[in-house]
Amino acid sequence: MSEHNEMTDEQTPLGELAIQTLAMPADTNPSGDIFGGWVLSQMDIAGGIVTRKTTRGRTVTVAVDAMSFYLPVAVGDTICCYVKQVKSGNTSITVSIEAWASRQYGGESLKVTEGLFTYVAVDQSGLPEMINKR
Ligand SMILES: CC(C)(COP(=O)(O)OP(=O)(O)OC[C@H]1O[C@@H](n2cnc3c(N)ncnc32)[C@H](O)[C@@H]1OP(=O)(O)O)[C@@H](O)C(=O)NCCC(=O)NCCS
Repeated sequence: MSEHNEMTDEQTPLGELAIQTLAMPADTNPSGDIFGGWVLSQMDIAGGIVTRKTTRGRTVTVAVDAMSFYLPVAVGDTICCYVKQVKSGNTSITVSIEAWASRQYGGESLKVTEGLFTYVAVDQSGLPEMINKR
């Protein structure tokens, strides 16, 4: 088992469950595995759902850092994205997001991916806007 997989041996996801969805055949690459980009996209949406409660307005993703893909995702897996705020600035919020997969035919839930996502509150022109001025 790799060092990274040992890091995923935690039993409990960190943060608020923001999205629960099913990996479908349309989300696969030519080899039949689920695209990493699809998982990242679900995580981005999950972070947006949670941070909008604070930003209460137009918000964009400015950075995705420290992404690690520990385990593959298969068609039929249920993907759950958990979001926890780790930093809050004048115009930005950074959250850690973990994606966990429950395999199609049962078995334990495993952390498959995690990363840090930063969102920035922007005005109508797309320029950064102070969150506490909204
Ligand atoms: C988001 C955007 C408006 C920020 O503009 P900017 O001129 O870089 O703004 P600033 O330098 O003033 O930074 C704004 C905030 O973002 C943070 N930030 C900027 N770049 C960052 C990065 N790479 N990582 C983490 N935080 C970052 C800054 O720390 C600052 O936070 P704070 O106000 O809480 O301290 C601009 O970069 C943009 O429009 N990017 C495209 C966003 C987008 O289209 N996302 C979807 C991609 S598909």
